Amino acid sequence: MKRDLLTLWDLTADEIRRLLHRAHAVKRSWKEGNLEPTLARKTLGLLFTKPSTRTRVSFEAAMHRLGGCCTFLTSRDTQLSRKEPLSDTARVLSRYLDALVVRTYAQEDVETLARYAAIPVINGLTDLCHPCQVLSDLMTVEEARGSLENLHAAWIGDGNNVAHSWIAAAARLGFTLTLACPDGYLPQAAVLERARSEGQGTVRLGSDPKEAVAGADVINTDVWASMGQEAEAAERKRIFAPFQVNAALLETAPPHALVLHCLPAHRGEEITDDVLEGPRSVVFDQAENRLHLQAALLEWLITGA
Ligand code: CP
Ligand code: NVA
Repeated sequence: MKRDLLTLWDLTADEIRRLLHRAHAVKRSWKEGNLEPTLARKTLGLLFTKPSTRTRVSFEAAMHRLGGCCTFLTSRDTQLSRKEPLSDTARVLSRYLDALVVRTYAQEDVETLARYAAIPVINGLTDLCHPCQVLSDLMTVEEARGSLENLHAAWIGDGNNVAHSWIAAAARLGFTLTLACPDGYLPQAAVLERARSEGQGTVRLGSDPKEAVAGADVINTDVWASMGQEAEAAERKRIFAPFQVNAALLETAPPHALVLHCLPAHRGEEITDDVLEGPRSVVFDQAENRLHLQAALLEWLITGA
């Protein structure tokens, strides 16, 4: 039975731990020059309807490092632009490819592709969630902190797709996540409810960034207007102003707290330049780890090993 990664909920806690373990090993092997080409002759498709730097390039590089190759597709350049159904597209692509990464707006579209595809489908970001990002974030935290034991993470800002995957991660792995979001920009109620009913962790929701970072080991933020919300950018900038991750906020957090941002960042909005470039920031390790984590993920989903 093929496996997909459509949301973080698709993985058990054990599977997440195994994936993180393999991702660290992939990173070490690559640096030591002895990474095995476990995906030789395999082909990954990337079907994107939103822009991307990290997700596209890290998947392409991961596939290349493992001996496989990629084909990059956009909905504009495929017959999707002329209304070929997702269900037909999924079945046709399954005859050519070994796995498919999809970045789009509606979660439902990734689910439709996965339902009709005979190959693993990986969510490379939707409006609902960004599981590959948060798995790489967890790898980065583990690397910097040694483990995820007794982790207390804070999320400051928009209760968006990345926040949703952090909530699922906290629930699955049993750590504490405190969110501070403006009224009206909270995570979806269904996501919070699932974390409460199925999860092992503690997910707290508030609106005070200082309260959220007090006691936090990692402080996470993201853009105030996500892809597709460009028309709301000015209004969001006004509403989110008190939710900036800056030096004054860091002063109130424990001195060991790390700063995470999935990037791209809008310096001077959700995060200041000094914090992003400062000693507590691990944002470029985070970006690098997309590559190693996704190499481990592709290996697992394509070969089953
Ligand atoms: N963090 C992330 O997914 O970046 P891209 O939009 O550049 O892929
Ligand atoms: N929340 C952001 C993440 C970008 C990687 C967006 O969806 O645009």
